[in-house]
Formats: sequence, structure tokens, C-alpha cells
Amino acid sequence: MRKKIVAGNWKMNNDLAETEMFFTELKKQVIPEHVVVMIAPSFTNLNQAFNSLKDFPVEIVAQNMHQCDKGAFTGEVSAKMLISVGTTTVILGHSERRELFHETNALLAEKVKTALENDMDIIFCIGEQEEDRKEDKYFDLIEKQLTEGLFHILEGSWKHVVVAYEPVWAIGTGETASPEQVQEMHHFIRKTIAKKYNDAIANDVSILYGGSVKPDNAVEIFGQDDVDGGLIGGASLKVESFMKIVNSFEN
Ligand code: PGA
Repeated sequence: MRKKIVAGNWKMNNDLAETEMFFTELKKQVIPEHVVVMIAPSFTNLNQAFNSLKDFPVEIVAQNMHQCDKGAFTGEVSAKMLISVGTTTVILGHSERRELFHETNALLAEKVKTALENDMDIIFCIGEQEEDRKEDKYFDLIEKQLTEGLFHILEGSWKHVVVAYEPVWAIGTGETASPEQVQEMHHFIRKTIAKKYNDAIANDVSILYGGSVKPDNAVEIFGQDDVDGGLIGGASLKVESFMKIVNSFEN
């Protein structure tokens, strides 16, 4: 079932006190029943966030994880560790992970496999660079990211996967893809999934848009046929702007 989803990706922002303050404020809000709301704090605050939101309809998700279950990987966090602090969804393949931490499609395929083996849900991010768009290579690039990073999963695993399309040139830049550009790509992503798997899977998967989503552009972006919500960076750091985005669906 396609769901309407708004997920806040806090990146490396908000320490413990700021996280607590945010959730104290968030818990005064009403979360609309037809929207699945998620927040991805840093690893250090996951457990605190999970405990703080136990009786509140917002899911706490992780921003990343390692592909191995355990071992000598200084500074890394495993799927089992995430689950042990109450987190069962993980964002994989964010463009900052791909670019700054050199995560490849092959590595991401391994992370996807590990997450699914641990019964976790995944928000799988894909997106092209500005050059790819200028050189008209963006559809090929997105197809490659899907094929090499995600298309090894079995049909039955798609219920655990959400795809997030985040054009790199629109992340944190204030430059948003136009609603037409977003719809065009989301439709392409759905078609590519249908070609590899089938129409039912393609129609069921939620596809989020990310890249400078703000309260003043969310309604138009979320109103596109193939857009099921957003992955929100900067605007998720304040309860007010985040909630305006959460309330941007037409029904
Ligand atoms: P932004 O980030 O909303 O600040 O552009 C989106 C993201 O990186 O997920």
C-alpha cells in the first residue's frame, strides 16, 4: 500500500538537549492520521528519541548503518544495534553518504541486504548530480542506482522499501526541482520498477522527493501524482516548518 510519508533527516544537527526540546514541542502537535511521520536524529540520540516518542505517532529512524552484523569496524553501527534501541527503519544511500563517504551502489546493495535480513525497513535514496542533468544522463544514472543498489531484492521485500528521489543539486541549496521535473522522475522510477518487477509492486511503493522542500513548496510537490511525500533536511529542524510540511497533503 502506498503511504503518505514525511521523514525529517536531521543529518549532523541537534544534540541531546536540542533533541529533547524538539520532541517536547512536537508532542504538543496533532499528527494527521493519514500521514506517516518519521524523524532521523543522530545515532547518539536515537534511544532518547525512541523513549520520548513511545506513545506518540512518530517513528524514529536511523540515518545510516554498517553492512556487517558486528566486528572490528571502529565508529560504525550495526542493524542489530539500531534495533536494540528501538529503530527499525534506516535511510540508506543518502547523497552525502555517497559523495562524502564514498558509498558505492555495490556497498549500498550489501547494506540493503543486511537491513532486510534483519527485518528492517529502508528509505533508499537516489539522485543525480547537476552535471548528469546538464548532460542529459539523469535517467540513466537513476536507473543504474536502482539496478545496482536495489534490484537484487526479492519481490516480497518491496513492502519494506521506500524510495527517496533527491537530486543532489537541490539538496540544501534552496534550489528545488520544479513539480514537473519531480513528477517526471518519479514516474520514471515507478516505470523502471514495473519493468524489472511488475505494476503491482511499482504502484505500491512510496516514492518521496527530497531537496529543499519547504512549507511554501510542499503542497505543490506533494500534489504530483507519483509523489508520496518528502525527505526533509533543513526544514525538519524546526517543529513549525516541519509540521507545515506534514500538513501539506491534500487529504
Ligand atoms: P534539504 O535536505 O531539505 O535540506 O535540501 C534534504 C535531504 O538531504 O534529505
